[in-house]
Amino acid sequence: MAFDAFDSAAMQRALELARRGEGLVEPNPMVGAVITAGGPGDGGGPSRTIVAEGWHERFGAAHAEAAAIAAAGGLARGGTLYVTLEPCCHQGKTPPCTAAIVAAGIRRVVVAAGDPFPAVDGRGLDELRAAGILVETGLHEPEASRLTAPFRKLVATGKPWLIAKWAMSLDGRVATRSRESRWISSEESRAIVHRLRARVDAILVGIGTALADDPLLTARPPGPRSPLRIVLDNRARLPPESRLVTTARETPLLVAVGADAPPDRCSGLAAAGAEVWQCPDLDPGVRLESLLEELGSRRLTNLLCEGGPTLLGSLFERGCVDEAWTFIAPKVIGGEAAAAAVAGRGVAAPADAPPVDVERVERPGGDVFVRGLVRSR
Ligand SMILES: NC(=O)c1ccc[n+]([C@@H]2O[C@H](COP(=O)([O-])OP(=O)(O)OC[C@H]3O[C@@H](n4cnc5c(N)ncnc54)[C@H](OP(=O)(O)O)[C@@H]3O)[C@@H](O)[C@H]2O)c1
Repeated sequence: MAFDAFDSAAMQRALELARRGEGLVEPNPMVGAVITAGGPGDGGGPSRTIVAEGWHERFGAAHAEAAAIAAAGGLARGGTLYVTLEPCCHQGKTPPCTAAIVAAGIRRVVVAAGDPFPAVDGRGLDELRAAGILVETGLHEPEASRLTAPFRKLVATGKPWLIAKWAMSLDGRVATRSRESRWISSEESRAIVHRLRARVDAILVGIGTALADDPLLTARPPGPRSPLRIVLDNRARLPPESRLVTTARETPLLVAVGADAPPDRCSGLAAAGAEVWQCPDLDPGVRLESLLEELGSRRLTNLLCEGGPTLLGSLFERGCVDEAWTFIAPKVIGGEAAAAAVAGRGVAAPADAPPVDVERVERPGGDVFVRGLVRSR
């Protein structure tokens, strides 16, 4: 399909609007929409102006298309709707958007990316075409698909999108030889992590990190979401006096234990307000996969793993990591006993290492922050 510069700018605006829903709409996808008067058939002129905007503001609220149509009122008639995701055609928490688009008299719909949700998956586009609306797809598709990547992963695999985060020295150490990691990164870097925590559904750490650092794993200051805190702890070693356990009644805590975890320790954790989730499988890798499936079945879309190296090693080895957030502090820790960021077996040849498509590089407080998509091998 041939799109012009006006089409491109309108869809970019819709993508911008969609991002406003980050942390507020999950497990739904972020979606943005704009409505313009007129279309290319009108000769392009000044009649092609944006008359209304909308975005999916929070879970359960109006969809972006419905919000834009409501804002446009009668101006939608004969106009073009630009929307970042295929309009829905089923009754969910809100009525189908396809019906609202037809009723509004919109003449042309431009869609960035399809909706893989089984109840939609192309049917939204079919319904619009059947109603005589001109439907065009694929404008800024890569950006729109990236925006909804966690939603797409959950729909496709039943598992959450996994963001692995660590802070390391220039020589790749995440702790000193005495296992201290506070603080390797700058205050500004840590503030970025707190903002990330505030928009994810859950934060995962291994028991090694919980024991070494006694973390709280909350977002400070709080943001749109209050993530579930999860500790992978096969033998239920998490101490009752740890900050995670003593705050379990205010901020949910799930302790994932193995089949052989001592029952008295499990009941102690449960009595303190933690959810004890037991996986019967003896293989740690299978247990990890089962936990991810369990979280997916609860429709948790974004999972942040904050380490440590043993857990990150397991996750990378199984190809479970989707996104990496790495903070590199300009200091050298050194020492054979100081842990490197990712443990496990690692790869034998550099060519076997999963490449990371770098999406952003920043310098928070003098650190180097690299954020990218991990391409699994
Ligand atoms: N700078 C940073 O960004 C950062 C972040 C986090 C941690 N750290 C540092 O890292 C150190 C702790 O690292 P760590 O490697 O010892 O601990 P870890 O990765 O947090 O925890 C490892 C433990 O988790 C449990 N576990 C359960 N299921 C697992 C699975 N499928 N795969 C892997 N582990 C599983 C195992 O103990 P069980 O078998 O008993 O369950 C395992 O020994 C500390 O010094 C901490 O300060 C630094």
